[in-house]
Amino acid sequence: MNDLAALILAGGQSRRMLSPLSKVLHPVAGRPLIHYPVAAARAAGASTVVVITSPKDRDTVESYLVSAFGRELIRVTVQDPPRGTGDAARVGIGALDSDTRRVLILCGDVPLIAREDVEKLASALGPQSPLVVGTCRMPNPRGYGRILRDADGRAFAIREQRDLASEAEHAIDEINAGVYAVMADRLERALGELRPDNAQGEYYLTDIVPAIARGGAVGTVDLLPDAVAGVNDRSQLRLVQDAMFARIAERHRLAGSSIASGVYIDDAVQLGKDVTIQSGVHLRGKTRVGDGSAIDVGCVVSDSTLGAGVTLLPYTVVNDSQIGDASQLGPFAHTRPGSVLEADVKLGNFVETKATRMRRGAKANHLSYLGDGDVGENTNIGAGTIFCNYDGYSKQKTQIGKDVFIGSDSQLIAPVTVGDGAYVATATTVNQDVPPGALAIGRVRQSNKEGYAPRLRAQLEARKKANADKKK
Ligand code: UD1
Ligand code: CA
Repeated sequence: MNDLAALILAGGQSRRMLSPLSKVLHPVAGRPLIHYPVAAARAAGASTVVVITSPKDRDTVESYLVSAFGRELIRVTVQDPPRGTGDAARVGIGALDSDTRRVLILCGDVPLIAREDVEKLASALGPQSPLVVGTCRMPNPRGYGRILRDADGRAFAIREQRDLASEAEHAIDEINAGVYAVMADRLERALGELRPDNAQGEYYLTDIVPAIARGGAVGTVDLLPDAVAGVNDRSQLRLVQDAMFARIAERHRLAGSSIASGVYIDDAVQLGKDVTIQSGVHLRGKTRVGDGSAIDVGCVVSDSTLGAGVTLLPYTVVNDSQIGDASQLGPFAHTRPGSVLEADVKLGNFVETKATRMRRGAKANHLSYLGDGDVGENTNIGAGTIFCNYDGYSKQKTQIGKDVFIGSDSQLIAPVTVGDGAYVATATTVNQDVPPGALAIGRVRQSNKEGYAPRLRAQLEARKKANADKKK
């Protein structure tokens, strides 16, 4: 028994996006637009969600939705050609199980609709009201279908903008939000009766209202404007993105984190307790942040896990990395994919890691590139150290034990291993393994020429003067 199913209309052409990408796959807070109405329908109890797309969008939309929600929930069908919202719904019901009792209908391009909105519609549905329409009062109703009510206040029709007949109809500020709950048998019958006799020559889903009103009352549920905000162009896309980011930040504030304004947290990101985030921070993808961590201005963290008590100082970029408890990064540090920092690690200014493990207590405080490495516990990497991991053909590993000191301005030419407790003198080029406890020193020997500096200056001065005389 399939009690509740949902149809998500997404078969329109969306020309106003001016984009090769399907409108419903444009991102909002790290997820494609269409994710949100599908998630709202699922949260409200739909056990099947049928998505109606154009032939062009079918594969991309289906592969995203199946990966996000699973094959159990998602069915994608194609409407070709797009002959209106009523035609789309007719295509959609063809994919429903025959024992489906109630149907939710949502638009694929209206992402701010919440589970609570959909639940209100579903719970207003019953034998007395076989159709419930989401409505909203709008100061500027232009472009929307208007709700027509009779003298007793009962909704009996929806009039599209282009079909408005009188001044009085133009003045109606109660609009059709484009979301419905309807008994499946009544929907099927009403869709069968649709005729394209309107200004656009389309099959209007809204024409099920008069058909069902003849045999029962049509209920309405008044929704907030957010639930209605649709995306037809990139300007509206930006509006819903802003609203979604504001909503997500507020959710984390109410859960006990301090989030400044101008912070962009994707929907899938998870924050622990008492996290502090300053403005200009972007937390993207599947990022997770542990309890008590603090992220200062301008940091960008993507698909990464931060432990508890982590500090990111300004303008740190963390990408596909794991950062252990109580580590401190930045300002201007950069961890690239595959970086694993265990607890209490420090990376300072202009330190870049890639596919490198930094074990507990390891430090690299200034100006370093640490690629394809493994750095042991409590090892200190001096300023300007480079792991030369790439010979132009392949990548090689640099392995450094625990309690090692790497002096400033050293290069380690991979593959190379430095044993526990070793000491690499400043400015050494390490091109052979260093045994545990050894001192490696490989710099050019310095010689001092006593009293030579004034002679050198005099020579240089004379050369400069000769050159200047030549020019005259
Ligand atoms: C529709 C409603 C209008 C309501 C508004 C709310 C109708 C006739 N009008 O108008 O009353 O106020 O939504 O936003 O329903 N679609 C298809 N196949 C089609 C045409 C559209 O799947 O052949 C899909 C679109 O991709 C979109 C949704 O249906 O997701 C709404 O279509 P759209 O053309 O945007 O309808 P509106 O004119 O905005
Ligand atoms: Ca629309």
